[in-house]
Amino acid sequence: MSAKINSVQCLTSPDALKRTLSIEFGFDDDVEYAPGDSFGIWAPNDEALIRGVLAALEVKDNDLTKYYKLEGEGIPSHLQPVQSATLLDIFRYSVDLTSVPKKANIRLYADHATDLSDKQKLMFLTSKQGTDLFNAFRAQGPTFLDILHTFPSIKIPLARVLETLPPLQPRYYSITNSPMAKNGHRRWACAFNVITYEFPEGVKRRGVCTPWLDQLSGKVPFDKKAVTTGFDHLRLPMFLKPNETKFNLPVDTMKPVIMIGPGTGVAPFMGFLEHRAEQRKIKKRFMNIGTGSRQHLEDHFGEMWLFYGCRHREKDWLFRESMEQFKKEGVLTELQVAVSRGEDVPTNNGKYVQDLIKKESMRVWNLLDKKGALIYVCGDAKGMAKSVHDELINVLVEHGGFEKTAAMLELNKWAQEKRYLRDLLKDNSISTAANSSTMVEVTGHRESNMDDLCEAEDELDGDDDDHDIKDR
Ligand SMILES: Cc1cc2nc3c(=O)[nH]c(=O)nc-3n(C[C@H](O)[C@H](O)[C@H](O)COP(=O)(O)OP(=O)(O)OC[C@H]3O[C@@H](n4cnc5c(N)ncnc54)[C@H](O)[C@@H]3O)c2cc1C
Ligand SMILES: NC(=O)c1ccc[n+]([C@@H]2O[C@H](COP(=O)([O-])OP(=O)(O)OC[C@H]3O[C@@H](n4cnc5c(N)ncnc54)[C@H](OP(=O)(O)O)[C@@H]3O)[C@@H](O)[C@H]2O)c1
Repeated sequence: MSAKINSVQCLTSPDALKRTLSIEFGFDDDVEYAPGDSFGIWAPNDEALIRGVLAALEVKDNDLTKYYKLEGEGIPSHLQPVQSATLLDIFRYSVDLTSVPKKANIRLYADHATDLSDKQKLMFLTSKQGTDLFNAFRAQGPTFLDILHTFPSIKIPLARVLETLPPLQPRYYSITNSPMAKNGHRRWACAFNVITYEFPEGVKRRGVCTPWLDQLSGKVPFDKKAVTTGFDHLRLPMFLKPNETKFNLPVDTMKPVIMIGPGTGVAPFMGFLEHRAEQRKIKKRFMNIGTGSRQHLEDHFGEMWLFYGCRHREKDWLFRESMEQFKKEGVLTELQVAVSRGEDVPTNNGKYVQDLIKKESMRVWNLLDKKGALIYVCGDAKGMAKSVHDELINVLVEHGGFEKTAAMLELNKWAQEKRYLRDLLKDNSISTAANSSTMVEVTGHRESNMDDLCEAEDELDGDDDDHDIKDR
């Protein structure tokens, strides 16, 4: 499946801590999905990083665009489709160049170091005695290219490199719109932070997908409106990832829902809200309800509560206008916004979503107990989700008369019954294969399964001015 970029909007002000974009993708044909689903997108590696790796591996310029296939026993599954592709494309789309190399890989690089001192250092890094050094080394987030630069005597065959690098993974984004909205079946929108960061030593890094999307969509400035022009000719490879945990709106529209999602964790809930707004419109039309009769509608739809969190109201309150509009229309019954930094932060410890749940705990309990509300949590698995979980336990203890252990068990039961649903970001761990294959040049080639992916990359026009992978 391939999509074009319909529009892009920067949701955060220039002085916000993070740059957050909302991008809408468009399809020529209808696509099936439900609010709560995500899509995957195949983003290529950064062009300057690829060129850097290939240069460090001493690949000659005129070999970059020759076509190759991998031959031999036990080619890793992600490289099996490589029947005929240029080196540039293999390094663009098939292998992960940004993750920190594993010990097993470093041992392999040691085997291929031609300088004794490099070999010894690499061997020490992977030894038991070298554990502290290895941990310090890992903490700096070194990539394969950093290792090649630090240990230039590593001379490793290309095929060996390819089979030891992990596969490049697609990146996933929650869909922020509803198929019921106008042209909803022909578009998927999403919201994400553009990932750039710096290690304490000053080494700058950036994500694979989000800076690429930022660059492709024109690095638009902060604006209240989405920018729509100029992207018609691009086609980006993507696919649907239906939500496997039933993180979707309940079929029974009377069921109240409590949505908890700070930052971009609010993404799927924007889809929920748009969906409910459309359901309400249909009901209104069907029942012939006039614009003033909101109460009639309320009888058919359960309450929708949103606990959202940002740092500064003016700088990074994502989707503020839409949220306020949903509230005005009655789609959103309760909008609770936690502000964590700046002058708006309440002095009485109310800066996070879990603090607002605490503040509203009696009403939250009533919604859970009397109306059987469903709870949805989306976003960061480490800090936020754990604190929200603890606060929900407190709600059950304080207002439901549960002992703490019983409250924990009750929440577990709700999770099993899909009444307490969480869509949280976990790290993908990737395994590598260590087999033996060879690169064989393919002559007379003209068609590659990667050719269609390259068009978008060509659009980048070799512009890597702001490439910030630092050589060490
Ligand atoms: C089902 C699902 C749905 C998702 N939906 C969304 C969504 O709607 N919106 C959204 O924004 N994301 C979402 N994600 C996450 C998204 O898929 C990507 O992981 C994210 O956008 C980063 O992609 P990237 O390629 O730009 O960065 P990557 O190349 O993947 O780099 C990210 C990695 O960089 C490292 N890193 C980042 N910041 C720092 C730092 N400060 N210090 C040190 N290391 C750091 C971390 O190791 C992190 O894992 C979702 C993930 C899943 C699995
Ligand atoms: N379906 C999915 O799996 C899915 C969908 C969307 C997004 N995501 C992921 O979810 C994450 C969302 O994070 P984000 O980067 O967008 O958020 P963010 O901008 O880092 O933070 C948003 C707000 O949360 C606050 N916060 C920080 N620590 C917290 C804690 N322990 N408890 C509660 N609030 C806390 C922040 O406050 P301070 O910084 O001031 O402390 C800020 O006000 C991203 O990693 C994104 O990739 C996953």
